[in-house]
Amino acid sequence: MRSLPLVLTLACLAAAQHQALIDYLERRLQTIEERISLWQEQTVRYASELRDLKQQMVSQLEALDKEKEVLRVSLDSVGTRVDRVERELDYLETQTGAQPCVDVDDKLIEQQVSLVQEKQRSKYYQLSDCGDMISNIKAMKILKRVGGSKGVWTKDTGVNSGQVYIFNGTDEDTIYKFASVQDFTRSTGLTLSKKLKLPVAFQGAGQVVYNHFAYYVSQSEDAKIVKFDLSNKTITDSAILPFQDYVPVYTLNSDTLIDLAVDEEGLWAIYATKQSDRYISLAKMDAKSLDIEQMWDTNCPRDNAEAGFVICGTLYVVYNTQQPGRSRVQCVFDVNGMISSDEAPLVYFPKRYGTHASLKYNPQEALLYAWDDGYQILYKLVMKKKLELLE
Ligand SMILES: *[C@@H]1O[C@H](CO)[C@@H](O)[C@H](O)[C@H]1NC(C)=O
Ligand SMILES: *[C@@H]1O[C@H](CO)[C@@H](O)[C@H](O)[C@H]1NC(C)=O
Repeated sequence: MRSLPLVLTLACLAAAQHQALIDYLERRLQTIEERISLWQEQTVRYASELRDLKQQMVSQLEALDKEKEVLRVSLDSVGTRVDRVERELDYLETQTGAQPCVDVDDKLIEQQVSLVQEKQRSKYYQLSDCGDMISNIKAMKILKRVGGSKGVWTKDTGVNSGQVYIFNGTDEDTIYKFASVQDFTRSTGLTLSKKLKLPVAFQGAGQVVYNHFAYYVSQSEDAKIVKFDLSNKTITDSAILPFQDYVPVYTLNSDTLIDLAVDEEGLWAIYATKQSDRYISLAKMDAKSLDIEQMWDTNCPRDNAEAGFVICGTLYVVYNTQQPGRSRVQCVFDVNGMISSDEAPLVYFPKRYGTHASLKYNPQEALLYAWDDGYQILYKLVMKKKLELLE
């Protein structure tokens, strides 16, 4: 019987231990629950903070969008106003004809002079690495309206003399020479010019002036190219090109049988013959002797062509487009085969009055001298490296 209380004591002890274990477990559970609820609270708080942040971002983005739209609209209206002002300026110049804004011209001329100075500094580089092509037309300046619907105006494309030469019409025997572009623009008609009488009349609008000589196609049966010394006013040379049966090189300018051009590499003849009368041909000439150095048949059609010019050994042919008042370089022929018409950038001319009678490139200034229905226009070109196309 002595053993009963011991059994009870042992049982009590076990029960107490059991209770302690349960208490302990409950405490643990409680702390875990507390932590879980803390985490939940935090998660909820984070989620709501995140939601707020998102909302803020969305509303800020919306505000930004609105500001962007406002900016775009005001830019558009500024653009439209600039366009309108430009159009009005062009229109005013058209209306006043002979007396365009001389201030602006002076600025352009200053730009040209600095461009020429810059060019001369990099001349060696340019000559040894003539890899430029047109990427765009940056600006257009209408300088004057003088003479008939067709003609040529140009500076000396070989030396930077500043003098301006006018070949009015397509069958005349006079060159009008101005001492400067300023004289040309402020002259009433051709009054400020000096007349140079040619022994043989020119034909078409293919003339160029290069290193103190005028080169032109004379009015004769067999397309004779004449080299006229502008300083002593004599014909120093003439040559009949070794082709037969010429047809006018551009169908939209039927007066011009052969077009002459000057680029960084010298004198070129742009022509077409009956043998391949759908396409334009190109010849590199020796400006000293008038010999043909090399000839190429291009893939540029004559049809719908109005003018052409050569830059860095690449012929650019300008065509009339369906859009009224716009012409465009639509065919490119590179004698070095580096670029083709497909790769060349689309070059549109800003506006025209009629058909370009002539487009004369001046490598000294990277400008095109255009004669468009009696308007003398300058186009400023943006050039880029042909190599960039191949990258
Ligand atoms: C210019 O040429 C046109 C014909 O092409 C002629 O009518 C006009 O009289 C000429 N102007 C001058 C100033 O010689
Ligand atoms: C004109 O100058 C050229 C050189 O450019 C010369 O060959 C020619 O004999 C000169 N003519 C006259 C008439 O002086």
